[in-house]
Amino acid sequence: MRYDANMKKSKKNNGDKTLLGGITPQQFLREYWQKKPLMIRGAIPGFTGVLSAEELAGLACEDDVQSRLVSQAKGNWRLEHGPFEEERFAKLHAKNWTLLVQSVNQHLPEAMALLQRFDFIPYARLDDLMVSYAPDGGGVGPHFDSYDVFLLQGQGKRLWRVSQQQDLTLVEGVELKILKNFHTEQEWLLEPGDMLYLPPHVAHWGVAVGDCMTYSIGFRAPSVQELAGQFLNFMQDRLDLAGVYADADLKLQTHPAKISKAMLKEVVKAIKRIQWEEADVAEFLGCYLTEPKLHVVFDKPRSMNIAKFRQQLIHDGIQLSLKSQMLFDEQHCFINGELVKMSPDNTVLMRQLADNRSLPAGGFEDIFLIEKLHEWYLAGYVQFPK
Ligand code: SIN
Ligand code: CO
Repeated sequence: MRYDANMKKSKKNNGDKTLLGGITPQQFLREYWQKKPLMIRGAIPGFTGVLSAEELAGLACEDDVQSRLVSQAKGNWRLEHGPFEEERFAKLHAKNWTLLVQSVNQHLPEAMALLQRFDFIPYARLDDLMVSYAPDGGGVGPHFDSYDVFLLQGQGKRLWRVSQQQDLTLVEGVELKILKNFHTEQEWLLEPGDMLYLPPHVAHWGVAVGDCMTYSIGFRAPSVQELAGQFLNFMQDRLDLAGVYADADLKLQTHPAKISKAMLKEVVKAIKRIQWEEADVAEFLGCYLTEPKLHVVFDKPRSMNIAKFRQQLIHDGIQLSLKSQMLFDEQHCFINGELVKMSPDNTVLMRQLADNRSLPAGGFEDIFLIEKLHEWYLAGYVQFPK
């Protein structure tokens, strides 16, 4: 497709002022993001959610969906991991439990559309949309998260207690992260469409007031340890160091079992030959950030030859499948953990696909782009709009 100035361009993040309670995304980033909580009444007026409690329970029974059930009985917390059998839900008490389902955006287009309303934060920071359901009294207890989160209230009400306390000591011996000493500093009762933004490490405790569904738009913040470890894994496949250990000047040792200083020095010299450039980190970062989570399974379509694919592409346009993650930087484009070579002819469209998650119908001409899209179609990375 040729780039046409009238075509829907890549997104400009002017954001949506209502969502942030009347402030601009710039102001939000300056004053609140990673700094302090923000409670927004009527962030999405009339919002009652994108799925029912029954549909959420249905998702929690699927093999490729991550879900948890948190319950509390006689002061003891219990955590169970999905997938669940339908009967598990029938055995639950009327009160004091919560079902939490991760990455609902990978299964429902409406959930993905909701997540995209938060595109004033780069996709590289976005994690997923988690949805919880709890009957009266349900919640996951007082805790803190290591990432930023927008807690959007769907059906029903939830009482949120928040504290910026320094004491983040956890109760020992429980699988769940429960704060030992939680001191409420602020308290809000959220109703459908209200939203609470929390920066990392702010203690919070949400309790359902009647049947309640909460939508958590969560962001990712990998630890430095994780980044470094993953980068070393990535570099392992790229290393190509010539030579083998050699010691033509080997001296007679008193202790044959001793690793000599000379050997150590030689190995230090060899290891120091490992080097990396910013370009290696850039490639690693794009692959790492778009790598599908372990449980993700792409739904592959029936095979279609490239001529037929092109025809339908021109007619319908194309969109990323809900499970796909696509990002780009100055030089590269990445999809689902893979680096994609871009040419000047397809850069604009690749970037547009990554930003908007779709490309409109039109005259696709670049053969490289058509071949790539066809390959991605067969892999289940992209699909025709329904
Ligand atoms: C919930 O939705 O119940 C929990 C969300 C959170 O506290 O992070
Ligand atoms: Co939390």
